[in-house]
Amino acid sequence: MKRHIAKLLLVLLIILGFGAVRAIAEEAANVCIDCHSNLDAPLKVTGEEFGASIHAQKGLTCTACHGGNATDAELAMSPKAGFKGKPSRQQIPELCGKCHSDAAYVRQYNPSLRTDQLSQYHTSIHGKRLAIGDTKVAVCTDCHGIHDIRPPSDTRSSVHPLNVANTCKRCHADADYMKSYGIKTDQFAGYSESVHHAAMVERGDLSAPTCTTCHGNHGAAPPGVASVANVCSTCHVFQAQLFDESPHKAAFANMGFPGCVTCHSNHRIKPPSDSMLAGKDAVCTNCHTEGDAGSTTAQNFYSGILNLQASITRSEGILNRAADEGVEVGQAQLELTQARDALTKARVTIHSLQPEKVKADLDAGTKVTDKTYAAGTKAMQESRFRRVGLLVSLGAILFTVVALGLYIREREKNGGNSTH
Ligand code: HEC
Ligand code: HEC
Ligand code: HEC
Ligand code: HEC
Ligand code: HEC
Ligand code: HEC
Ligand code: HEC
Ligand code: HEC
Ligand code: HEC
Repeated sequence: MKRHIAKLLLVLLIILGFGAVRAIAEEAANVCIDCHSNLDAPLKVTGEEFGASIHAQKGLTCTACHGGNATDAELAMSPKAGFKGKPSRQQIPELCGKCHSDAAYVRQYNPSLRTDQLSQYHTSIHGKRLAIGDTKVAVCTDCHGIHDIRPPSDTRSSVHPLNVANTCKRCHADADYMKSYGIKTDQFAGYSESVHHAAMVERGDLSAPTCTTCHGNHGAAPPGVASVANVCSTCHVFQAQLFDESPHKAAFANMGFPGCVTCHSNHRIKPPSDSMLAGKDAVCTNCHTEGDAGSTTAQNFYSGILNLQASITRSEGILNRAADEGVEVGQAQLELTQARDALTKARVTIHSLQPEKVKADLDAGTKVTDKTYAAGTKAMQESRFRRVGLLVSLGAILFTVVALGLYIREREKNGGNSTH
């Protein structure tokens, strides 16, 4: 009886085993790849390349985009099997959008994946120009790749935040390619030298913007003059609020100047410094002239900031010296942080252009530096006092030692006499 069961089980196992092997063989059989992996570029498509794509990983094959029959070499590229060939550039957005705009379809795979890429794309300069027959603009595959498409979260994806700028650069930094449009081709060069590029690429801060953060991923229209300040303000909230309160808000709008980028530029944003307020690198003097209200205010901001900076340095100096001499000044050194914070705040508050507001920040800082400098002075006095005290006690000790020595000598002299 037991033997029969064992035999039955064995047969079952063999059947199941064959089934599994057959299934694997069927899955692996892709006549398109068999043939195309041996062709020369641009017809070469390997199993390795396609296997790395999200589409292959989700079980799609060549026929999902090209039609045809992937299991029968005879029928593979036959129109009878629905083979569509290579889509033209103008067909590509609709081809990708066929699946990606279909919410019901996408939900089966990934409920959180957006389905607005195609509709957004139609609103972008790229999409609008493609619609009127300009095939040099970016289509889906220019940004995402063709057969090796990966999710944006994959660091190897051409649309991962760290790689986006290089993806846009291919066309936008190519002066030859862009010649007919008469637009600048320095965006990548500028961005590469910006605070944002430094934050993202050098410090790995993915919250810093890359091209598509400002321009949109699919609705890749440049922000218009009116929305420029809005782009920056999504992240730099304080500066934006202060700018909105400033007289520049209305003045710039009247003159057709954008907000933030008038002083900071859009792509080549440099680390800001006090020298933007006065001197040869000042941005204020681009519009204001010596003696007008704007220029005077700029000059006052500049000297106010420099004064506070100097007071902080002075306090730091005396507190460090006191600490070196062993006087406890930890509390004052900690308090000095508040002055540094006030200085940082003043550098932000200048965006309001309101002298009283900036003065309030500077005064708060000066109050702290006055207090900490006084603490430093007191500490140095204490140190001096201690030194004098030490000298006095050293003197006293020396005096005692000498006196004692003399006394002993005297005693010895007298004692020597007495033993005789
Ligand atoms: C036996 C080899 C072979 C097989 C199998 C094969 N192809 Fe091709 N394919 C070719 C060759 C050769 C060309 C280029 C000549 C031509 O267009 O006929 C080509 C061209 C193409 C093109 C470009 C057509 C164009 O319009 O420029 C696409 C797309 C393509 N194949 C997809 C597929 C897909 C998808 C499959 C599987 C369903 C497949 N091929 C199966 C050999 C093959
Ligand atoms: C997600 C959709 C998609 C899938 C899946 C896909 N392709 Fe393509 N394929 C495209 C698009 C889009 C193009 C046209 C790209 C372009 O304009 O350069 C293309 C182009 C091609 C070409 C023509 C290359 C040339 O420049 O002449 C070949 C050959 C090809 N695919 C073969 C394959 C094979 C083989 C597979 C399966 C391993 C496959 N494709 C899977 C979208 C797809
Ligand atoms: C036959 C339907 C289909 C077509 C056609 C198609 N895709 Fe997909 N695509 C999918 C599916 C399914 C996924 C997997 C979604 C998931 O699980 O995240 C996917 C995933 C993606 C992802 C990664 C999304 C993510 O964050 O996970 C990108 C990017 C993408 N596709 C771009 C394209 C582009 C570009 C084209 C056109 C060349 C295209 N797709 C054509 C079905 C399709
Ligand atoms: C100008 C470049 C560009 C073009 C053109 C483009 N994409 Fe994208 N796409 C991106 C970037 C950048 C991301 C990454 C967004 C992120 O980091 O989350 C993205 C993300 C995606 C995703 C992941 C989900 C999402 O929306 O974040 C899908 C799917 C996708 N794109 C499909 C498409 C399709 C379909 C087309 C064509 C209709 C297209 N893309 C055209 C740049 C582009
Ligand atoms: C395949 C080439 C190509 C790629 C890749 C590409 N673009 Fe473009 N882009 C163009 C062309 C061509 C135009 C049309 C220029 C025009 O009309 O002034 C354009 C227009 C634009 C515009 C509008 C410029 C204007 O005239 O106001 C913006 C913004 C833009 N692209 C951003 C991007 C971003 C961001 C990326 C990367 C995510 C990108 N592009 C990738 C070719 C490309
Ligand atoms: C911090 C936001 C930001 C980033 C990052 C950014 N841009 Fe821009 N870009 C802008 C603004 C704002 C404008 C509009 C300038 C104006 O109105 O003066 C602009 C304009 C453009 C234009 C129109 C032509 C021009 O130069 O005026 C193109 C093309 C462009 N950007 C491409 C890019 C590319 C490519 C990248 C990445 C290498 C990029 N941008 C990164 C904000 C940004
Ligand atoms: C997606 C968010 C985001 C957007 C949009 C953005 N920035 Fe930034 N910005 C950052 C981050 C993150 C840093 C780096 C902060 C740091 O290093 O402390 C930064 C740094 C800066 C700095 C240097 C600050 C410093 O203290 O050194 C300036 C100036 C600046 N951005 C201006 C702009 C302008 C102008 C725009 C619009 C054209 C803009 N930013 C758009 C996130 C953003
Ligand atoms: C009128 C010129 C001007 C405009 C407009 C302007 N800024 Fe500034 N911004 C400056 C100056 C000058 C500094 C440097 C102050 C300093 O360091 O003393 C600065 C500094 C900054 C800093 C660094 C502040 C810090 O923490 O040290 C950021 C971030 C910044 N600006 C963002 C913005 C944003 C966002 C906008 C638009 C809402 C904007 N700026 C508009 C002139 C301007
Ligand atoms: C793009 C040109 C431009 C730049 C750059 C610029 N301003 Fe102005 N500013 C104006 C205009 C226009 C007005 C309003 C008309 C006027 O009162 O002169 C104004 C007004 C002012 C006012 C109010 C003046 C009043 O009459 O009450 C102050 C203060 C001011 N700016 C300070 C600055 C400072 C500080 C900077 C540098 C950080 C600066 N501006 C950079 C154009 C500019």
